[in-house]
Amino acid sequence: MSFQVLALETSCDENAAAVVADGRTIRASVVASQIEVHRRYGGVVPELAGREHLRSLAAVLQETLHDAGCSWTALDAIAVTQGPGLGGSLLVGVNAAKAIAWARGLPCLPVHHIEGHIYANWLDPARAQHGGAPPPLPAVCLVVSGGHSELLLMESHGRLTRLGGTLDDAAGEAFDKVARLLGLPFPGGPPIERTAAAARHAAGRLPRARLPGTFDFSFSGLKTAVLHRVREQPLQSPGPLARAFQEAVVDALVTKTAAAAAAYDVRTVLAAGGVAANGALRNALRERCGERLGIEVRLPPPALCTDNAAMIGAAAFYRRDALGADGLRFDLFSTSGTHSIAQPAPPTG
Ligand code: KG4
Ligand code: ZN
Repeated sequence: MSFQVLALETSCDENAAAVVADGRTIRASVVASQIEVHRRYGGVVPELAGREHLRSLAAVLQETLHDAGCSWTALDAIAVTQGPGLGGSLLVGVNAAKAIAWARGLPCLPVHHIEGHIYANWLDPARAQHGGAPPPLPAVCLVVSGGHSELLLMESHGRLTRLGGTLDDAAGEAFDKVARLLGLPFPGGPPIERTAAAARHAAGRLPRARLPGTFDFSFSGLKTAVLHRVREQPLQSPGPLARAFQEAVVDALVTKTAAAAAAYDVRTVLAAGGVAANGALRNALRERCGERLGIEVRLPPPALCTDNAAMIGAAAFYRRDALGADGLRFDLFSTSGTHSIAQPAPPTG
């Protein structure tokens, strides 16, 4: 008998639901993107996001259960993203999940969004490439999304240590802001990747923040360097600058990931979050951690890097014993604050 979770994810601008069996098999996964609603504003408008979630949730749920060929009685638990994210958006998913759980007499499992991203590496499309084996632990996990950029050490399920992270912008945020400077649409990651791939060369070498002795990143200097370049010379075409920017971000992320993987002697390098869909980052991780260091590199398929509910269902399964202790009393949280999933690393040296 499998353990089937119905998961909801509404932390930002994707309204998503999924049915996941035993934390690994996706029976159905539906993602309704609101991107067209927000694009004209150049970013996600929180009030509009909350309203759109309310509008689409019932249809997304229905489609998910239909695709899974699954009735309400076949479910063992409901999982939902508790935070971090936009308050009004989280509210819709959390209240819907509690209502379903209460009506069906099922446990409701609140999942941390970042932990969800990591568990995309346990889902079946990723598994098929590795003979069905889950990622061997310990692992270093690079989490790079629109709101987070962190390097975590995962020793076992629920045992995460924060090794470092961004001091300013998240990697995805840097992609989005630089895209705007280059006149490319929101969200900036995919158009920067496409434009960079089409460029024959990079517009020189942009500065990288080295931050020696840490596993931290910083992207604000890089963003300012792009701004200066754009101001100095009107752009003929954004390609070479997009390429130089992407090279600098990828170099910074992979340098720290490889250093952390070597320092902690891990078996696996994992990546997660929207920016992990980036082909240049994926290739560099495979080359510099996989080929050079001989460490297994696991990457979720690009569609499972960006926000989805299947990853929330996977995390809920592996963490089900620890989650849900509060019954339906848990509340959402919009910022990480005291709700970090990871312990800070002990001081070294
Ligand atoms: O994980 P995600 O879907 O949502 C958050 O939790 O933030 O990540 C969204 C971010 C956006 O900043 C987007 O520009 C970036 O991921 N992104 C990419 C790519 N696809 C999405 N960045 C670089 N290359 C991509 N192909
Ligand atoms: Zn996310």
